[in-house]
Amino acid sequence: MTRISELAGTGDAAVAALLDAAFGPNRHGRTAYRIRIGMAWFTDLSFAAFDSQGRLVGTLQSWPVALHGDDGSETPLIMVGPVAVLPDMQRHGTGRALMDRLIETVDTHPGDPLMMIGDPEYYGRFWGFTADATGGWQAPGPVERHRLLTRAAPGLALPKAGMLGPRSKAQPVEAAPAEPLTTSTQGA
Ligand SMILES: CC(C)(COP(=O)(O)OP(=O)(O)OC[C@H]1O[C@@H](n2cnc3c(N)ncnc32)[C@H](O)[C@@H]1OP(=O)(O)O)[C@@H](O)C(=O)NCCC(=O)NCCS
Repeated sequence: MTRISELAGTGDAAVAALLDAAFGPNRHGRTAYRIRIGMAWFTDLSFAAFDSQGRLVGTLQSWPVALHGDDGSETPLIMVGPVAVLPDMQRHGTGRALMDRLIETVDTHPGDPLMMIGDPEYYGRFWGFTADATGGWQAPGPVERHRLLTRAAPGLALPKAGMLGPRSKAQPVEAAPAEPLTTSTQGA
């Protein structure tokens, strides 16, 4: 039985160990990290999964980011990810339970549109993410275009072009961890 709760209070070291296990130690070089650099994750949109023994088996974090237009405009977005499940626990519904909790939360309290870098076969199948809106979007690093996803919100048209990056008006992390910027096309 998997229990989903808010991520806050889980402990940075435990979260980092889980992300290392799911993505490998070079995860900091991923384009997703550059998009959200300096931002603090949303405490109300980030979740942890625990097994029946109380072991942390999965995490999901969400971040304030934006699409920056050439004209100086800034469209706020919520970046979802990493969604991570311990390798020995994958394909048992934990990722789905974490994402279900996020989607329930944002559908109950609608806010900025969701975006992420991830597999459309997974995030499209269950939660309606597509790459339909992102063909003209740029990212501060390599990204596979079909994995740059948004979740459409009724009545909301997203800009056709722009550069993804941190928000200029969001509260930055007080001491953002130094992250080596190697390159990767994978999401995280
Ligand atoms: C991707 C990840 C979060 C999915 O979580 P999970 O708990 O392993 O997967 P779930 O049990 O929720 O999967 C539910 C269904 O989706 C399928 N699925 C899982 N991951 C998938 C993927 N990447 N692509 C397509 N389908 C996938 C499962 O096979 C399962 O299908 P079924 O219901 O027909 O049996 C997890 O495998 C993981 O941490 N992977 C490594 C890190 C990563 O790549 N994260 C995503 C980038 S943000």
